[in-house]
Amino acid sequence: MKNENQKLQSLDTLFIKTYGCQMNEYDSGRMADMMKQAYGLRLVATPDLADVILMNTCSVREKAEDKVYSELGRYKKLKDKRPDMIIGVGGCVGQQEGDRIQKRAPYVDIVFGPQTYHRLPEMIKEIRRNRVCLTEIDMPEIEKFDHLPKAESHGASGCVTIMEGCDKFCTFCVVPYTRGPEISRPVSDILDECRELLAGGAVEISLLGQNVNAYRGPGPDEEEWDFTMLLYAVAELAGLKRLRFSTSHPMEMTSELCLAFAEIPQLMPYLHLPVQSGSDNLLKVMHRGHNRETYFRIIDELREHCPDIALSSDFIVGYPGETEEDFEATLDLVRRVDYGSAFCFKYSPRPGTPASKVEDSVPEDVKDIRLQRLLALTREQTRAAMESQIGKIVEVLVEKESRDAGDMAGRTADFKIVHFKGQKRQIGQIMPVRITEAYGQSLRGELILASD
Ligand code: SAH
Ligand code: SF4
Ligand code: F3S
Repeated sequence: MKNENQKLQSLDTLFIKTYGCQMNEYDSGRMADMMKQAYGLRLVATPDLADVILMNTCSVREKAEDKVYSELGRYKKLKDKRPDMIIGVGGCVGQQEGDRIQKRAPYVDIVFGPQTYHRLPEMIKEIRRNRVCLTEIDMPEIEKFDHLPKAESHGASGCVTIMEGCDKFCTFCVVPYTRGPEISRPVSDILDECRELLAGGAVEISLLGQNVNAYRGPGPDEEEWDFTMLLYAVAELAGLKRLRFSTSHPMEMTSELCLAFAEIPQLMPYLHLPVQSGSDNLLKVMHRGHNRETYFRIIDELREHCPDIALSSDFIVGYPGETEEDFEATLDLVRRVDYGSAFCFKYSPRPGTPASKVEDSVPEDVKDIRLQRLLALTREQTRAAMESQIGKIVEVLVEKESRDAGDMAGRTADFKIVHFKGQKRQIGQIMPVRITEAYGQSLRGELILASD
């Protein structure tokens, strides 16, 4: 690597702009680790002085491509002044747009997808040598994890991607096309990566995948392990205090997995379980593979094992053909489940998906009204969940300094954000906090110190 370092002397700094899901966050972290190890590149907080700019993009919802091109326009101005800098576009828009990106924005040097970013150091070497534009968007058999450097720990809470891709092909969704098929990493690789994070100071680990609970990976006993088996194994790792996972699909919520919330003390009482719609008609046309009764049964089972579990979901309003009655069914489902938090989106057609081939029939103003009605309901539920915490003493994992001076921020076991007066040295500790105030999306509290 020393030689490469010498050849690439003028490259010192790296800026990564990340959009999208936690898996993209994870990938960006790994890209930064990799570029540091390969070329000694140092992460900087703004693009202005960066020698290498990478965009890690998301194409899940509307105008994703437009956002990328307008951001690229900003980077072009930087490159006009410093032609030696390198601009790369990765992630799901990179995968989907491929060569089209360099046709529209010829100053982009590299286009890559979520499964090829481990080749970045090589690609950079190549363009420095030949000044060519490169596109690497084939989907190799999940080789990337074998090529990434050891994970560096970046704090109290770490993430590990355990599986890639999605085989569910919900009619509205691009993910199966951008991330490829479901492929699970071997159990021993996952455990090793978790151990590295724990050794680096993490006490909480989140296992990531577009469908984490579809995990089926080779175990150390040469048998296929399912997600629940993996959870029990991760929970046993020394030093792990909190375990989480995201995102789960209702179709893969087995009884064993529901039971794990009662049996694994480290598994935190929070679950993001997207349902998209409360209408049986729509669940069927969306190809979600279950109806509302099945979803209610899963929720009941989870609450039976873990009465305090905080639930969250994603919703789409205005899917083609959604009637007022379908939408009412969604509101009804939300009332029955009572979520701690929710993410609500207006449907937008995504290129290449089956839903994009039928007319986007719900008018924009109707979508807007439905979104507002759903948001009013879910926000009210979140507010009630937050307010119910006032006066309680909760365990908070201190994660970082808040924006306000002297304030620290952390999360409760059920994933609520708490701000409180504290010290930087408390980062990584789990501390009791008395909740004093509730806001829309967060809580405020007071640390209870041993002398109190
Ligand atoms: N794998 C997860 C989430 C994938 S994408 C799951 O299966 O639940 C995250 C969320 O984006 C989805 O849950 C969905 O609510 C939303 N989404 C995906 N495609 C969309 C589209 N075309 N229009 C609007 N929202 C969409
Ligand atoms: Fe998309 Fe459906 Fe796969 Fe989730 S399960 S990533 S919504 S296709
Ligand atoms: Fe977006 Fe790709 Fe993640 S489309 S949500 S970045 S898998």
